Amino acid sequence: MDRYAVIGNPISHSKSPLIHTGFAEATGQAMTYTAIEGPLGGFAAAVDRFRAEGGKGLNVTVPFKLDACAYATDLADSARAAGAANALKFDGSRCLAENFDGIGLVRDIVHNLGHPVHGRRVLLLGAGGATRGALLPLLAQQPARVFVANRTVDKATSLVQEFLARGAPPSLEGGGYADLRPADCFDVVINATSASLGQELPAVPPTAVAPHALAYDMVYGKGLTPFLTLARQAGTPHLADGVGMLVEQAAEAFVWWRGVRPDTTPMIERLRVPLN
Ligand code: ATR
Repeated sequence: MDRYAVIGNPISHSKSPLIHTGFAEATGQAMTYTAIEGPLGGFAAAVDRFRAEGGKGLNVTVPFKLDACAYATDLADSARAAGAANALKFDGSRCLAENFDGIGLVRDIVHNLGHPVHGRRVLLLGAGGATRGALLPLLAQQPARVFVANRTVDKATSLVQEFLARGAPPSLEGGGYADLRPADCFDVVINATSASLGQELPAVPPTAVAPHALAYDMVYGKGLTPFLTLARQAGTPHLADGVGMLVEQAAEAFVWWRGVRPDTTPMIERLRVPLN
């Protein structure tokens, strides 16, 4: 039976075994999917061991997403732009690396939640790995504007410069939260900071959230975060957390490994935690 796993540290909280086992059952794929707690500093040795035992592919989570890029022999554009990989596929001596977080986010926003990005104004909060992963798939939708806002302003401006130098359209801009004027209003506002994990609120002005906007917090299972509360107070009823992104990035990896696309809706419903 073909073997797959997720590797991280810690790993016991991961939903990936549940998601992929569910996908395998639903699509009739003969495979196993387990969780590996990789030793800190021992990523490559743990992956080598998994491959030697016949492993076909891995999902990679904190803190190994950079190690996964360094380990791979072939980086997809998504992994190169993000500087991080969240899925590996083994093909003889080759190791292919992908980052499906951004495509998972866009599929959730556009297909599942029904909010188009094409021609719309997008505000991305944060300038870390989550934003890096999201940028190319968002830009591929040809939004009217993408503004990357970050607490550490230099990080946002240098990230934007880097993407512009690599061919991103001039509709991509970056700066601090204070650079957002009352006239700067957005149709899709995505919290890609880690602030919600500590119940903190990025200093985004409520005027940035249009009354019809989709407010999307990438965290999963934290309920109504301070960011989503701010968006609701700004007047929008369209609030989402990252459960759909989590399931959609898993589905992308599943298709990549197995060539079969699972139905994501039942899994999203199974994992959804109410936003209150
Ligand atoms: P990730 O890979 O999850 O993006 P990261 O690279 O450590 O993690 O980036 C975390 C992001 O969350 C950064 O943009 C960080 O802002 P700074 O660059 O200014 O540190 C942002 N962040 C974390 N806590 C925050 C908070 N309380 N308010 C605003 N931004 C916060």
